[in-house]
Amino acid sequence: MSGNPIARMWRTFRSVAQFDTFELDPARRRLKKVASVEDLRRLAKRRLPAGVFDYIDGGAEDERTLATNSGDFSRIEFRPRVLRDVSQLDISTTIFGRPAAMPLILSPTGFTRIAHSQGELAVTRAAARAGIPHSLSTMGTRSIEEVAAANPHGATWFQIYTWKDRGLVRDLVARAAAAGYGAVWLTVDTAVLGRRERDVRRGLTLPPKLGPRTLIDGALHPAWTWDFLNAEPITFANVVGRHEQDGTSAISLAEHVASQFDQALSWDDIEWLRSFWDGPIVLKGIQTVADAKQAVAAGVTGIGVSNHGGRQLDDAPTPVSLIEPIKQEVGDQATVICDGGIRRGSDIVKALAFGADVVAIGRPYFLALGAAGEPGVDWLLDFLRTGMERTMALCGARSLGEIDCELVAWKR
Ligand SMILES: Cc1cc2nc3c(=O)[nH]c(=O)nc-3n(C[C@H](O)[C@H](O)[C@H](O)COP(=O)(O)O)c2cc1C
Repeated sequence: MSGNPIARMWRTFRSVAQFDTFELDPARRRLKKVASVEDLRRLAKRRLPAGVFDYIDGGAEDERTLATNSGDFSRIEFRPRVLRDVSQLDISTTIFGRPAAMPLILSPTGFTRIAHSQGELAVTRAAARAGIPHSLSTMGTRSIEEVAAANPHGATWFQIYTWKDRGLVRDLVARAAAAGYGAVWLTVDTAVLGRRERDVRRGLTLPPKLGPRTLIDGALHPAWTWDFLNAEPITFANVVGRHEQDGTSAISLAEHVASQFDQALSWDDIEWLRSFWDGPIVLKGIQTVADAKQAVAAGVTGIGVSNHGGRQLDDAPTPVSLIEPIKQEVGDQATVICDGGIRRGSDIVKALAFGADVVAIGRPYFLALGAAGEPGVDWLLDFLRTGMERTMALCGARSLGEIDCELVAWKR
């Protein structure tokens, strides 16, 4: 080689040097370094006060069910088919008669504004953009009407806990119907609250109590604290003036559930709910084939195979391990939803292959909200969609109809 060595080095440098444009938006800047749900979780852990992160991330007792919910997906392997022309993929579907861009629902989560002041409004807008249903919890921190207004053409579901005050439940469901909500989840795994020991250790109360520990935690997480202090106080927006805490007395979530939730809830109450709600009813928290069968006999539209993300009964069975036997029993008599432990598009494909009609997620979007606000939830939904499409392409499945039990097996 000849010529000026400096000029040669410059030419070589120029051929490889690439500089990203500087991202002005801090949330999007953070997201540039994120590649997975686990990365979002780490980012949320850094940005949120420890008590807030643990409320979202934690599970019941020894957190064995929390771990196995997602761990079970790593016990499943694919039986990929090749040479199938996967140039066109279709992951769209219909959920309760409404088109959805993919078979994914955002599960209800309580106290969502604890991660970000926009709370459920940010989540529902992201769900609408992604073309999938979002669910608002009874313990939500944005009102039924506000969420509907933020997502006027999208699908929104409402989740109910049965309060001892049955009139309150009726009123909430009537408001959801008037606001155009498309389905009701009735959560049936929360007769009492699971013992979430991270929250016990941290003394989590509702509303959050400002003690010296919280103040130090807040000072160490200034971005979260700034957002929290600049927004209106967090309340259970749908039960304002009825059973919400008034801010003068803080109690634990367990005390709240024990005093307000109706432990006498039984199968007869499906009929009661049906008497004032004529849309789809999904029982959320079915954990045995026997109960799935009984749910179908009770006439529900959907079966939410779920253990509340491992937050209730530790050592409950994992949703993905129940899908195949439940689907075999109920067939097409009800929509089967697999909720718990899903962290990747490939997990969605695995659940569908065992027979789920649709899957649902909780922590991933809650942590995404804590990590990077609304753009974080957009990022997550795109990550799950592209992950699902990539898995299908690598497995030779072109449509949801081609995802069946031949595609997966439990590892030996
Ligand atoms: C912080 C948090 C709050 C939750 N709040 C509710 C709730 O108010 N109502 C409900 O039915 N389920 C609630 N869940 C359970 C979720 O709806 C869902 O079943 C669970 O998160 C799924 O597991 P995953 O987090 O592994 O995706 C909550 C879950 C989390 C993590």
